[in-house]
Amino acid sequence: MGIPVRRFDAVIVGGGGAGLRAALQLSEAGLKTAVISKVFPTRSHTVAAQGGISASLGNVQEDRWEWHMYDTVKGSDWLGDQDAIEFMCRKAPEAVIELEHFGMPFDRLENGKIYQRPFGGHTQNNGQTPVQRACAAADRTGHAMLHTLYQRNVRANTQFFVEWMALDLIRDSEGDVVGVTALEMETGEIFILHAKAVLFATGGAGRIYAASTNAFINTGDGLGMCVRAGIPLEDMEFWQFHPTGVAGAGVLITEGVRGEGGILLNANGERFMERYAPNLKDLAPRDFVSRSMELEVLEGRGCGPHKDYVLLKLDHLGPDIIKQRLPGIREIAMKFAGVDPIKEPIPVIPTCHYMMGGIPTNYRGEVVVPKNGNDETRVNGFFAAGECACASVHGANRLGTNSLLDLVVFGKSAGDSMVKYIKEEMPTWKDLPADAGELSLARVARLDNQTGGEEVADVRIAMQRTVQARAGVFRNGANLKLGVEEIQQVAERVKRTQIKDKSKVFNTARVEALELDNLIEIALATLISAEARKESRGAHAHDDFQHRDDENWMKHTLYTGSDRSLSYKAVHTKPLSVDYIPPKERTF
Ligand code: FUM
Repeated sequence: MGIPVRRFDAVIVGGGGAGLRAALQLSEAGLKTAVISKVFPTRSHTVAAQGGISASLGNVQEDRWEWHMYDTVKGSDWLGDQDAIEFMCRKAPEAVIELEHFGMPFDRLENGKIYQRPFGGHTQNNGQTPVQRACAAADRTGHAMLHTLYQRNVRANTQFFVEWMALDLIRDSEGDVVGVTALEMETGEIFILHAKAVLFATGGAGRIYAASTNAFINTGDGLGMCVRAGIPLEDMEFWQFHPTGVAGAGVLITEGVRGEGGILLNANGERFMERYAPNLKDLAPRDFVSRSMELEVLEGRGCGPHKDYVLLKLDHLGPDIIKQRLPGIREIAMKFAGVDPIKEPIPVIPTCHYMMGGIPTNYRGEVVVPKNGNDETRVNGFFAAGECACASVHGANRLGTNSLLDLVVFGKSAGDSMVKYIKEEMPTWKDLPADAGELSLARVARLDNQTGGEEVADVRIAMQRTVQARAGVFRNGANLKLGVEEIQQVAERVKRTQIKDKSKVFNTARVEALELDNLIEIALATLISAEARKESRGAHAHDDFQHRDDENWMKHTLYTGSDRSLSYKAVHTKPLSVDYIPPKERTF
């Protein structure tokens, strides 16, 4: 029996901010557009973004996109591509005003303009003084943005496939992408979605770590599909640890708390960030603050019975600011830490938050791979945007609030590229290959028929513990080497996972097993890429190589899953129109 086929001009995998922004561009251009999502779109992980979206609107103090660009390049520890960074920072004001015109309920200043708060690494005059650049809707900015974009898509007639999981990319004999296979989670039926163009906007994969601010759905499905389809992954050694996850629970406490004036304290009651970052203090970029917190704990100045966290104090802001600007944080602190921040500090630890690497793309959202000596050959019909993509604007460390910006700027840019591609290059559908869908059928059949294997949850926990222990805030050669060996052993176990109790929640169990197929590819890419990088840069802090080494390592890593090998490609140092920002020491 053949696999049922449905046809669309464009298929978007993922219903978060990037997917919805791209879908809007396509639907409004009159193209038949499908969005498939494992969850109802407004439950995508964008909903969890709290503190804001960056744009140099200058509503509170003077600001310029060039300063935003400088901060982003410096934040990236000079691994970000300066053409893509210029593109994003220049477009930011118009992207935020567009959201405002779509009806996004931003907080307001007295004069009616969008409220902006300080955030880590956001400065005036190339690092001189902090600036208020994060445009916020209280501490629920992602929630406000996602609902706004969903409503616009309903109006534009985007077609949603809710609780569908994409399984595999379909490429034809020329390597062009012509669709995806997908599982309807309720029925267990597999479909082919045949498309002229496919966009992955599948979000991050923070669930490779044991402690993460990421939702359970963040299993890197797009990256797993790329590995299986022969597309490399870029810069997978770079994972951001957000300084303020609730200790023991992992739930995010926005950097906006520190933007509003919250401070970090050690067990001696000392505001220790004054020592590490005398200028920006608690609002230094995340890699810096996370390392400082870890050092406080390692040197015995942690708090609590096990001296394993620090405190985030905000009671001095007063109940009015906390209730008005940080209502969600108060609720999270009460529910997950058992403290009311109006009266008591919140126990926090650095927690895995964001994947800087991903599917290699350019600033137009086109997926680009090395071919015949050219690093940047387009994969026809294939686009990516948002956290799953590596444009690369975040380089080795992302600045807070650049993620929501990335979603809308590159979602729109990819949408524009797809419209152009479909209308100008793809008047009709390319044929599906004869074996379309067979890989997905085989993967599901393997799961259904496997005997003598291990439970999915046991293997997943082994993977998460390995990644957490071997690729944390601080890394070293011996630990990474062990990590590579251990994760390859876990990967062998993943091949034999088994769904033991098929009678109860069969499709849910199936989905978890299929997600683990994706997670393990990302865990392998992470450890193998991290083990190879012999320097410290951004979020990759290597005890054996404590300095950045621009001569040998100012380059992007490309991981190929078929033979678990690495290659490298050059950083784009040339911006689109302004002067190159040369590397210098990162102090704050
Ligand atoms: O701290 C936060 O609100 C997170 C923002 C971000 O990751 O950009």
